[in-house]
Amino acid sequence: MTEIIDGNAVAADVRSGLSDAMDTLADEDVTPCLATVLMSTDPASETYVSMKHSDCEEVGIATRDYEIDPEAPAEELYDTIDELNAADDVHGILVQMPVPDHVDEREVLRRIDPAKDVDGFHPENVGRLVAGHPRFKPCTPHGIQKLLAATDVETEGADVVVLGRSNIVGKPMANLLVQKAEMGNATVTVCHSRTENVAEKTRAADVVVAAVGVPEFLTGDMLSAGCVVIDVGINRVETDTEKGYELVGDVAYESAEEKASAITPVPGGVGPMTRAMLLWNTVKAAGESSG
Ligand code: GUN
Repeated sequence: MTEIIDGNAVAADVRSGLSDAMDTLADEDVTPCLATVLMSTDPASETYVSMKHSDCEEVGIATRDYEIDPEAPAEELYDTIDELNAADDVHGILVQMPVPDHVDEREVLRRIDPAKDVDGFHPENVGRLVAGHPRFKPCTPHGIQKLLAATDVETEGADVVVLGRSNIVGKPMANLLVQKAEMGNATVTVCHSRTENVAEKTRAADVVVAAVGVPEFLTGDMLSAGCVVIDVGINRVETDTEKGYELVGDVAYESAEEKASAITPVPGGVGPMTRAMLLWNTVKAAGESSG
């Protein structure tokens, strides 16, 4: 029987695990606060940001919501970041990506105070992660580590293939898995658009993390029996339904499920974990600023 990894259940455990830290902060009169900045009218980005706000509300994290016209000069975003960096009652800052083309994404990431960088994308935080002493682990790969742990998957000595080399998922995932640390010590292969013989590599893997942004890229014939499959993809595919689209992962679920010993569904797998780990990082940021 293939285990369907329940991201909603593991995320609920992560959220309830925050209550002790929240209580300690409350004793010090600190309410963790996350500020989000959205410079886009993309419906998916709008949805993600509003979900982050409702998640915060559910666990008692305060929020501030900034929306900037995507046509506005980049300085408007930079000034907002400066203001949030200076605000003592804001502990976490999240600028929803992608930002418009006329905004320098690297400047955005550099500009956020690394102590408030709950995404973990600031170069200082990336460097710390690579060097093996992370401050904020990026939310999606951190959430995947938690999912693997909750599924009793042993990463030590495992052959893991990460499909995708994005700064948000693929690269930090590979870095975390290779660390000499809990849920690390794996042998990691990163595949990307220029990799030859991807299937040969995935067939040799104990765990495959698919984060390529291509609907149903990973099919059952690319897997060996008993492997663990983690699907990071959330692709909107147009359909004839009333909604007009459906969400499809990077994994061809039915064929992969036949081979896998455990697999994450889409939705209800990695997505809820990404959201839960953002709460975790925000509480951590608040704790470090008050301590
Ligand atoms: N856009 C897509 N994923 C993310 C994320 O994890 N953080 C931010 N800030 N933007 C995103």
